[in-house]
Amino acid sequence: MEEAALRVKNLSTHFYTPRGIVKAVNGISFQVKRGQVLGLVGESGCGKSITSLSILRLVPTPGKIVGGVIYLNGKNLLQLPKEEMRRVRGKEMAMIFQDPMTSFNPVRSIGRQFIETILAHMDITKEEAWNRAVEMLAKVGLPAPEKVMRQYPFQLSGGMRQRAMIAIALALNPKVLIADEPTTALDVTIQAQILAEMRRLKDEFGTGILLITHDLGVIAQLADEVAVMYAGSIMEYGSITTVFETPAHPYTRALLNSIPRLDRDEGTLKPVKGQPPSLLNLKEQCPFLPRCDRAGKLCSTKKPLLTAITPAHRVACNYPLSTVIQEEEVSYRELACTN
Ligand SMILES: Nc1ncnc2c1ncn2[C@@H]1O[C@H](COP(=O)(O)OP(=O)(O)O)[C@@H](O)[C@H]1O
Ligand SMILES: [Mg+2]
Repeated sequence: MEEAALRVKNLSTHFYTPRGIVKAVNGISFQVKRGQVLGLVGESGCGKSITSLSILRLVPTPGKIVGGVIYLNGKNLLQLPKEEMRRVRGKEMAMIFQDPMTSFNPVRSIGRQFIETILAHMDITKEEAWNRAVEMLAKVGLPAPEKVMRQYPFQLSGGMRQRAMIAIALALNPKVLIADEPTTALDVTIQAQILAEMRRLKDEFGTGILLITHDLGVIAQLADEVAVMYAGSIMEYGSITTVFETPAHPYTRALLNSIPRLDRDEGTLKPVKGQPPSLLNLKEQCPFLPRCDRAGKLCSTKKPLLTAITPAHRVACNYPLSTVIQEEEVSYRELACTN
């Protein structure tokens, strides 16, 4: 059995605003396996970034993690002292964002920032750190890595900056990489190159990757498994083939239908109709109810839990599209923390 690098169980992160409680993340569970990519997909505002910030324990105020456990290689991150958590970030768990410009210091060379990061976590000499940095820049496919080391962030193109950030993230050999919209700002050619790099690196280093994106195309290219998020909850979870070929949640089906297909509809985009609900003062009902064309009488009173319809396929729907449902509600057997 593959071991999970990261397990998240029943995570809830709420924002306590003057207008009420915003349930940005509302009891979600998933795991990222070693050497595999879990895609977390959903429309803007559904809680993807707050999920990743929760894992890093960097939720901005007035947000607060109000429930759940997060295990990184058996260590419960939510119980670590702050100092130890800082060591985990960067060393054991790295993160790349949409816009690397904001994560680099604009007035320091790439090399200086790279070496500082390495030296903060590894007991090696400056020269060894320099060599390691150059090696990593070359590994992510940057030509002339020695030159890149001397350059400033603004002197690199967006794609090169993104690669440099991936190189820094991977230099410390993290067990888990969290990539939040890592290619959204890039053009398609560079996007494909970055995805290929991430694929090569997870194969080579066995890193588990949580790939967060609103783009199902990106998920299709890289993910082994996918979790579909909606209004702070996971609506469907399973292997990429299962979920893409036999979606069981009406929302997943609508999302998949919103992708233009050349063979079917001459490239026209059919966005999912309606709007996601406000996460402020969420009701105890299915959050997809107002947009659902299959809703039945249960949906306005019962918020469906993520339930296994096959051992590797779960759906949170009172009336899922596939017919066989196991009686028992999912207990996340394999998520149960054994270590
Ligand atoms: N600082 C904040 N104050 C109040 N609510 C917030 C704040 N940041 C995020 N949220 C809420 O969390 C939800 C999820 O945000 P986010 O995780 O950034 O979405 P996305 O899926 O686009 O990454 C937002 O829709 C918003 O309602
Ligand atoms: Mg986001």
